Amino acid sequence: MISMPEEKFIIRLFNVSKQYGKKEALKDLSLNIAENEFVFVTGPSGAGKSTMIKLLYRGETASSGDIIVDGLNLARISRKQIPALRRRLGVIFQDFKLIPTRTVYHNVSLVLEVAGRKPGEIRPLVMEALEYVGIDDRADELPPVLSGGEKQRVAVARAMVGAPRIVLADEPTGSLDPDSAARIFSLLEAVHRSGATVIVATHDQEMIRRHAVRVIRLENGRLVMPAQQDERLW
Ligand SMILES: Nc1ncnc2c1ncn2[C@@H]1O[C@H](COP(=O)(O)OP(=O)(O)OP(=O)(O)O)[C@@H](O)[C@H]1O
Ligand SMILES: [Mg+2]
Repeated sequence: MISMPEEKFIIRLFNVSKQYGKKEALKDLSLNIAENEFVFVTGPSGAGKSTMIKLLYRGETASSGDIIVDGLNLARISRKQIPALRRRLGVIFQDFKLIPTRTVYHNVSLVLEVAGRKPGEIRPLVMEALEYVGIDDRADELPPVLSGGEKQRVAVARAMVGAPRIVLADEPTGSLDPDSAARIFSLLEAVHRSGATVIVATHDQEMIRRHAVRVIRLENGRLVMPAQQDERLW
């Protein structure tokens, strides 16, 4: 990792701290994530996992330090540049965050509409993403009638439809039964195999054990460095 050339890192955090009032949610966090890595972020409740994910899509701004995401310095970008950042990212949340009054199809197509894709391109891409996650037969339904696992598959389709370079997921399986959770993880692995960098915040130690990838562990807002040989166990 240390010998990797800088340009191979798609995400870099330098001494990042985040304060919410008096609460320091992240403390002096520095780390690099390589292009096409699959990384778990774990640690106890309140450790700062969601805060780290929010900083990466600029849902929040760091109190100090620098965050570089795909060449963009998030401390320096203007409001106008945020859509350009978001187009490089797909984001998945524990509570899905689908628009309940829009169809499954429209929840996914909105990403491409906002990105200014030509209307003729949109339908095939949306249907391809819905087929990929196995929910194309529900395209015309509204999210509230779907099960949790189905909703999350729509959210995965929405995250991947724009072919983003980075996919961020905050407890994507936190509200799902084990079978649905395993299906969501397989989809995230497929997104990773297709070339994206995937960062998943999760408590799910079983998932972490089953997937031999890098684990970033936070405790009380700080990075905890596991011994190299034990990395998979953290
Ligand atoms: N908007 C906010 N205002 C004040 N404090 C906040 C805010 N967001 C997070 N915090 C605090 O920052 C700390 C880190 O929160 P965060 O949500 O990042 O933890 P987490 O690791 O995602 O926890 P969980 O596993 O429960 O989701 C917590 O102490 C939390 O209470
Ligand atoms: Mg959280």
